[in-house]
Amino acid sequence: MAGIHGTDGPFVLSLAAGHQMKPRVLSRRDFSKAAIAAPWVLRAQQAPLRARIKIDTERVIGEIDPKLYGNFVEHLGRCIEGGVFDENSPLSDSNGYRRDVFDAVKKLGVSVLRWPGGNFSSNYHWRDGIGPRDKRPPRLEMAWGTVESNRFGTHEFLNYCEMLGTEPYICANLGTGTWEEAQQWVEYVNSPQDTAMTRLRKENGRREPWKVTYWGLGNEMDGPWQMGHKSAEDYGKFALEAAKLMKWTDPNIKLIAAGSSNYNNGIDWIGWNRTVLDFLKTHADYLSMHMYVGNAASDFGEFLTSSLTLRDRIKTTEGVINAVMSGQPRGRKIYIAWDEWNVWYRARGESQRGRRILEERYNLEDALVVATFLNTFVNNAHILKMANMAQLVNVIAPIFTDEKRIFLQTIYYPLALFANSTKGQALDLLVKSPSYKSKDFDEVPHLDTSAALDGKTLVVNIVNRHRSQAVEAEIQLEDREFVGPVEIAEVNAPDIKAENSFESTIVKTAQRSAKAEKSLLRYSVPAHSYTMLKATLS
Ligand code: AHR
Repeated sequence: MAGIHGTDGPFVLSLAAGHQMKPRVLSRRDFSKAAIAAPWVLRAQQAPLRARIKIDTERVIGEIDPKLYGNFVEHLGRCIEGGVFDENSPLSDSNGYRRDVFDAVKKLGVSVLRWPGGNFSSNYHWRDGIGPRDKRPPRLEMAWGTVESNRFGTHEFLNYCEMLGTEPYICANLGTGTWEEAQQWVEYVNSPQDTAMTRLRKENGRREPWKVTYWGLGNEMDGPWQMGHKSAEDYGKFALEAAKLMKWTDPNIKLIAAGSSNYNNGIDWIGWNRTVLDFLKTHADYLSMHMYVGNAASDFGEFLTSSLTLRDRIKTTEGVINAVMSGQPRGRKIYIAWDEWNVWYRARGESQRGRRILEERYNLEDALVVATFLNTFVNNAHILKMANMAQLVNVIAPIFTDEKRIFLQTIYYPLALFANSTKGQALDLLVKSPSYKSKDFDEVPHLDTSAALDGKTLVVNIVNRHRSQAVEAEIQLEDREFVGPVEIAEVNAPDIKAENSFESTIVKTAQRSAKAEKSLLRYSVPAHSYTMLKATLS
């Protein structure tokens, strides 16, 4: 009988939304009746699942860079036009920025915003996007098969970041672009000198340089789908020359080299990273990595292991960076910027090219995967110093609009909780959790965790990967005590496939509190949930 484990003792019946129902003890008669009526809602359990989390506040992984909570806007579908920016909407301000979207972005605590792509950046010529909007040239846009109006350009992006208080990150065109074009973009945006480029900037209404720190050396240059795709050697050589000119223009900038994002078909993604870093080890400050995951097979347990693959790729990339950097001066560091990541598998493929179509709708299980990715970023805070969810609005995004309204997708909630609270130092936890076996991993812990200490504030993030059972967790502080109540924020819903919409918000954050005793907190982590515990310590 599917879904029934164990044959002895009393059985507990609950619906798939286990944590919401009050369990009751069943007789064997009930048991067989229920199984006949609806075997798919049955589960039997003999003992609760238990876990232990030990926290020593001196076991520090590294400083959590606020840039782990970055985001990304690309000229793709309705992300920018119709999302961030809509000149014809009564909901927009006088500059064309949608006010309701702006407010939701502000609450999301976006620390760094990447632009203009993505694939789009590989044929983007920045001069098309400056000057009077009505005079800007519309261009064929080949990454996504549309026409680019160029009405949202450098000024519109950088002014938006200023209004938000967000660090801008510009990805230069190393596909069809030239070294000179990349260099002059840095000059136009950052130079305090009097030059033809800065005169142009001033003519276009901006006196002071913006001082943009983060610049990408192209996007996914290893992918055959990329305009101007190159071999690792060709890209490494080309990017090094661009990097020299860009850093000679402004020595304060930080450069992000395009790492491999092509994990399929036996492609040597590790070799790409090694070769590219060999060329760029003296000039790059970050290596960019991307990863999208999905649940096409509709297998919750497997889907929830995606973050273990992410973890392994981070570890492998860290090893490559260490190998390449071994002969370099001690102070020279290269970090990982995981500057595209998300769940993305429904709105995919050739037929999805073009405006309005590429729009992913998210459910609870997607939000849990997002939380496990964020846990993984925090757990690698020593090497991962930037991460950008792709993308901010409408396409594969936490915020969704139509002409009149917005709603917050399920994935908005874990991202907002992390960005607004998981700060300071990442802690190395000792976690003893029950686990399960998946296709690729012998032991997948039911509890996926991370923790951060910021002064006296401790935050513990826990995802319960168990689809139907709560896990009774004992959270033990090794060297401190809890002071006052523990704040609890839980992202959950009865059904793992529950989605939000303009009409209803089913998946959202519920707040409550719990009581700890000295150094011990006992907390039952509900099935298929993400929980953030926030406490003050002695
Ligand atoms: O974020 C959507 C696309 O995914 C980006 O344009 C590209 O870099 C990646 O393949």
